[in-house]
Amino acid sequence: MSYSIEKLVFYLRGLFSAPIICELSKRKVFTYTKNKANFNLKAVNKIKGKKELFACLNYLNRINLINKIGKDNFEFTDLGVEIFKRANSYYVPHSYREYILNLGKILDQGIKTKLLSVDRDENIIGSGKTHMRYFPPVISYLARNNSYDVAVDVGCGNGHFLDLMASYFQNIDLIGFDISKVSVASAKKIKKNHNKSKINIFKEDASKVSKWSPKIKKMIKNKRAIIFFWFLLHEISENKSSVIVNYLKKIKQNFPDATIVICELTRQSINIFKKNSEQSLMPEYLLFHDFSNQGILSFFDYEEILKKTGYKIKKEWLFDQNSASESEKAEPSTFVWVLEN
Ligand SMILES: C[S@@+](CC[C@H](N)C(=O)[O-])C[C@H]1O[C@@H](n2cnc3c(N)ncnc32)[C@H](O)[C@@H]1O
Repeated sequence: MSYSIEKLVFYLRGLFSAPIICELSKRKVFTYTKNKANFNLKAVNKIKGKKELFACLNYLNRINLINKIGKDNFEFTDLGVEIFKRANSYYVPHSYREYILNLGKILDQGIKTKLLSVDRDENIIGSGKTHMRYFPPVISYLARNNSYDVAVDVGCGNGHFLDLMASYFQNIDLIGFDISKVSVASAKKIKKNHNKSKINIFKEDASKVSKWSPKIKKMIKNKRAIIFFWFLLHEISENKSSVIVNYLKKIKQNFPDATIVICELTRQSINIFKKNSEQSLMPEYLLFHDFSNQGILSFFDYEEILKKTGYKIKKEWLFDQNSASESEKAEPSTFVWVLEN
């Protein structure tokens, strides 16, 4: 069997190039005007490790992402502009780098994956940007069909969605909760920019419906409610469809009149992954989700789950709808459902 030297280099390069692209981009070393990149000298001056910074820039020069001009000046190549423009797509996978960098110890069971940390700040910026693909269509849909008095964001993370809701719908009451103290603290910050009395954010375990539902029922009593589950179900699924069926049944029992919105990543078929392997970051997303025990189910699992819960789809968005061949059914990488009883 023959293989190309290019592939050998391709698999190795990310180990070096991805952290450099992330770290320089997070430090805003470059600014952009009309697709052209320039050095942000203020940001460059703030970087203490100058020798290492220039070693990184020389590396980027050698791999043809930038060109050296004069003694200490650079410009982007066409490829460099494209890559750095999209540098934030690297943030979420890179925020899980501890798993990869400690792989040797993990495989030898010298370290427990549970004890490894995710770079929270990077993860939050990265997911905020990634989620801008999914939030806006739902916001526009609600703007056209808005008949809600209260919105509940279950597993609200850093409150990015609540912040958007508060900007678009001044009259809706907003409730958000999350199991993470850090997320709750960060989500509470959105109150600064909006009418505080309309936003309520607290810490709660979303998987314990019978514990949180009485409190939420009181808060939404006699109001038309919509409940959002943005990328929450895989966190609590334990990799079992039955857990999600029971969960959604409990939600329906407790909030029979509420509209619910689910958005989830899916585990596409292996053939789809193989076919798109050079254009998709989903293999990396699935790897770090698998490491951190998050149970991503397939779209077909979710279709079966839906049948068992009895919810009906009112609106559906399918992202990256793909099939590996004409004979295989297409599956999205991510979906959003607006559901009603
Ligand atoms: C992938 S993030 C999504 C955050 C946010 N919904 C968004 O779309 O930007 C998953 C969130 O669920 C939270 N989470 C995980 N398990 C939870 C649980 N049992 N109860 C409440 N929140 C949970 C995490 O802390 C995290 O903020």
